[in-house]
Amino acid sequence: MRQKAFIIAFLAVLPASSHDVITTKITFNREIIRIIQARCASCHKPGGSSFPLLTYDEARPWAKAIQEEVLERRMPPWGAIKGFGDFRNDQALTPEQMELVADWVEGGAPEGEPGDLPQPAKPAPASAAEKMGAALTLSGDTNLLRPMVLAGIFPKKVDPKATFQVTAELPDGRIEPLLWLQPFKPAYAHVFWFRTPLRLPRGTAIRGIPAGAAIVLLPGQ
Ligand code: HEC
Repeated sequence: MRQKAFIIAFLAVLPASSHDVITTKITFNREIIRIIQARCASCHKPGGSSFPLLTYDEARPWAKAIQEEVLERRMPPWGAIKGFGDFRNDQALTPEQMELVADWVEGGAPEGEPGDLPQPAKPAPASAAEKMGAALTLSGDTNLLRPMVLAGIFPKKVDPKATFQVTAELPDGRIEPLLWLQPFKPAYAHVFWFRTPLRLPRGTAIRGIPAGAAIVLLPGQ
């Protein structure tokens, strides 16, 4: 009797150890790759700021970590403290997307059918930050010598773990909050685009940029 129970237990374990049991209809090729292309690929691509996740073979070993990073809202990294500066490019996953990722991983992270794969994403055009000639790179507090329309702010180089709050103090005394990072991480080195570009007159004081950092102000129309 005892021997029989042992054999049954052994047989039950065997298939799971050779490959995962698939209990979900969500697949990498249908749902997950589309989320990755939209929300992760800007960094997780060959030559990007982090390891690539664009194929099943690249993503599968990371499935558990992907679930954890996404559910903990650590990925995609954003960084800006909410309510300080008003931005339009926060790429946080929707609750539905988070659920798809969790269901996929919990269900054994299946690949799915090759026919379900989307067209490969077009290579992104050179980022706006690289194209804009008149961007201003600041290090330490600065007074603007010319008026500018500020479209975005890019913490290009900052000491990891530095904490800072950038504000614009207008000549009429108004203070515009620009960006608050606490603490800075390399994954937060991306452009924060303002929902509405800010008009900064000549003489505006940009304050709060740590000495030695490089913070880029990106002009708009
Ligand atoms: C703005 C760039 C950027 C985006 C967008 C981004 N990541 Fe990341 N990711 C990084 C960087 C940089 C690291 C490594 C450094 C770190 O952990 O902060 C990382 C690390 C990770 C890790 C490894 C964490 C560990 O265990 O150490 C996972 C998993 C991950 N990302 C998944 C994702 C997923 C899934 C998405 C999309 C939903 C995503 N990332 C979007 C930049 C990004």
